[in-house]
Amino acid sequence: MTHDNTYDVLIVGSGAAGLTLALRLDPKLRVAVLSKSVLTEASTYYAQGGVAAVTDHDDSYASHVEDTLIAGAGLCHRDAVEYTVEHGPDAIQWLMEQGVRFTSEHDSGEPHLTREGGHSHRRILHVADATGLAISKTLIERVRQLPHVTLLENRIAIDLITRNKLGMAGSDRVLGAYVYNRGTHEVETFSAPFVALCCGGASKAYLYTTNPDIATGDGIAMAWRAGCRVSNLEFNQFHPTCLFHPKAKSFLITEAMRGEGAYLTLPDGSRFMQRFDARGELAPRDIVARAIDFEMKRLGAQHLYLDISHRPSNFIKEHFPMLYERLLGFGIDITKDPIPVVPAAHYTCGGVITDLNAQTDLPGLYAIGETASTGLHGANRMASNSLLECFVFARAAADHIHQQLEQHLRPASLPFWDSTQVRDPDEDVIISHNWDELRRFMWDYVGIVRTNKRLQRALNRVQLLHREIYEYYSNYRVSTNLIELRNLVQVSELIIRSALQRKESRGLHYSLDYPHQEAMAHDTVLTPPNFNRS
Ligand code: FAD
Ligand code: SIN
Repeated sequence: MTHDNTYDVLIVGSGAAGLTLALRLDPKLRVAVLSKSVLTEASTYYAQGGVAAVTDHDDSYASHVEDTLIAGAGLCHRDAVEYTVEHGPDAIQWLMEQGVRFTSEHDSGEPHLTREGGHSHRRILHVADATGLAISKTLIERVRQLPHVTLLENRIAIDLITRNKLGMAGSDRVLGAYVYNRGTHEVETFSAPFVALCCGGASKAYLYTTNPDIATGDGIAMAWRAGCRVSNLEFNQFHPTCLFHPKAKSFLITEAMRGEGAYLTLPDGSRFMQRFDARGELAPRDIVARAIDFEMKRLGAQHLYLDISHRPSNFIKEHFPMLYERLLGFGIDITKDPIPVVPAAHYTCGGVITDLNAQTDLPGLYAIGETASTGLHGANRMASNSLLECFVFARAAADHIHQQLEQHLRPASLPFWDSTQVRDPDEDVIISHNWDELRRFMWDYVGIVRTNKRLQRALNRVQLLHREIYEYYSNYRVSTNLIELRNLVQVSELIIRSALQRKESRGLHYSLDYPHQEAMAHDTVLTPPNFNRS
């Protein structure tokens, strides 16, 4: 049986962006929040370092703006940076009102501010080294108290429903979404005049990633298929320090550790970052990850080291209690031992183009958080600016939805999903094989250092996969694996095409064929065939 679900606002995603939007919306609205898995399974939950915002007297908006622009390598949109930074204190205040208890200084009781790469001031508010866990739990607890919000776990949005797709006359608009219920294996129809894609990023396109399994670029792929433009997808951020251990699945070691004095070292124990950048270990992420990649290749090393053991043992245990315990479980005592580290895919800087209201090209459709490309991050996101972006733009989207309520937009009656023409899949091995192939060639050919030849090779492969998946999707019943792979193949193709378009090296995109940086910075904008400017 197919269900019909009618809401005023459909929020796809239960990370920082989705939960904040749910909490910021008027209680008169009927709201649904979808989560692919359990509510906590989102990048938000795993965030360690914290949230960047100007809260200290010695700091200033101008300084946070300037640091963000520098880290973004000339590609950030100044208006988006200023908007985000200036709404930072409001976001922090709101989080505290929701019940988030940031770590405070022993003496003053003021929030303790840590430092990360690219920041010229201490301005990262955090909850020890498990900030995301505290924020997720707090916001979920708050949302659960709201009777007008329905939380639906194990639901995967497959595609958006739009007026154009239904062949309706007049200007295009989002009307809802088809959603796969992982419990019943049925596809449900959701109707809502406002839909927000808060689906996180696409770092699962890479073999090694810090991200949880949900990061398959669903929001970007759905928006693209619905006719929205995307930008700057070539800027895939690789976090410099993930634990290298056979039993750890790309476990992140927070940049705040370098902010509190940790050194990056070669296997012989010597430091090397000063050779690459005067800011040393606290240079922006693109520079540090590239330096590590360069040294690993030069030495033929499988990993390098992060070492904080020169700091007092009590200090380490107090600031990094979660990491201390986790690494002890792997036989590494961080108060004594250096930590083996490698870079891994971490963050999707580009995404669905939005304005400062988080609105996409399609009326009624919003993209918030890692799914979006607001112009804040440019060619390289500065540490701890992404959670901030989620809180600031979720509020902007809520305000914008409220402004349109006078138009009395009502959910439409929508057709059910048609599964009469498909059959059960006979060869699941094709799906799992394609998953492996995709993530491996993205890692090998579209990684930290790129060339035209490697990108072209990746494009050929991804186009082949695209055709195979399209055929599979058209003929067989949908499943979680198929939905995610279809999206990841789509987004990977967009990443590769974006990378091929950029004929320079800037921020996170480094090409051996074009090692220079152009004087003028420009966004890479891709426009879908069904783009409708009206
Ligand atoms: P997410 O938190 O990833 O949430 C995405 C949600 O969308 C999930 O609920 C998922 O189930 C849902 N979803 C996805 N697709 C679908 C679909 N098709 N249907 C239904 N639901 C769907 N940033 C910082 O600023 N500071 C940090 O300290 C920091 N540390 C990090 C540490 C780690 C290990 C990682 C991985 C990231 C870190 N980041 C940090 C980045 C930051 O956490 C993320 O960018 C941010 O949390 C993204 O929030 P989001 O709400 O956009 O997406
Ligand atoms: C970290 O704690 O190093 C991650 C911070 C971020 O991605 O902003």
